[in-house]
Amino acid sequence: ATAPASWDKPLEGKVAVVTGAARGIGATIAEVFARDGATVIVADIPAAGEALSETANKVGATALALDVTAPDAAEKLAEFATQRFGGIDIVVHNAGITRDKLLANMDEGRWNSVLNVNLAAPHRITEGLVAKGALRSGGRVIDVSSIAGIAGNRGQTNYGASKAGVIGMVNAEAPKLAEKNITINAVAPGFIETAMTAAIPLATREGGRLLSSLLQGGQTVDVAETIAYFASPASNAVNGNIVRVCGQAMI
Ligand code: NAI
Repeated sequence: ATAPASWDKPLEGKVAVVTGAARGIGATIAEVFARDGATVIVADIPAAGEALSETANKVGATALALDVTAPDAAEKLAEFATQRFGGIDIVVHNAGITRDKLLANMDEGRWNSVLNVNLAAPHRITEGLVAKGALRSGGRVIDVSSIAGIAGNRGQTNYGASKAGVIGMVNAEAPKLAEKNITINAVAPGFIETAMTAAIPLATREGGRLLSSLLQGGQTVDVAETIAYFASPASNAVNGNIVRVCGQAMI
């Protein structure tokens, strides 16, 4: 095959969905996708409405109020994207939550909510979009794992399990989606400076930053650019991979 004549707009003509895109890493993914020429749908929970509209306006995306854990989330997304834009080419399962507690206090509510948002929802939505034919041939699914799913993290049994589960899910889905000419890959970010990590107690937060040999937290754009690679024609032959975005840390 020959290389494209230009990489100016590698996502031109593609319809991309980013969940959890009102703020943080998701908002930056939307911004990078729009820069790369994609038609972007930014989705987030109804409670994030105002922030979601702001992000949508800033990057020139279309906003969709969508709780990824809703039983009909895939259906709603498929309908919305198909009616407006004819289908979906790229879906980034970025929505994620933490409900940290040390093991003895890790109650079922915290366990279930984190597993539902971070692991069950991406699976259900991917399966739903494929079953409805909304995710087109040539499509890309990009999941967001975490270094916590590889190395573990104190107080994050539920979160670590969900993010390790994402890796297992990507490995299992890759050969299946390949039959439909769709790839699935994931990023595993280290400590990234967002509202999610700002909520971590100070000492743990500093520890997270020091895990990178850059001795500082990463930026949302570090993760977004890696995701943009998985979305672009540059990664046509890349399937079932997990890429850590952890500064220069050795974990
Ligand atoms: P954030 O908390 O700043 O943003 C997450 C967004 O997801 C929020 O806008 C929130 O409203 C949305 N969301 C939560 N539940 C949702 C639901 N049920 N349906 C739809 N949207 C929902 O978090 P951040 O830091 O931007 O994280 C984004 C992703 O990256 C998450 O999956 C997180 O686990 C992952 N990650 C973050 C790291 C970090 O250091 N910040 C490190 C590794 C992974």
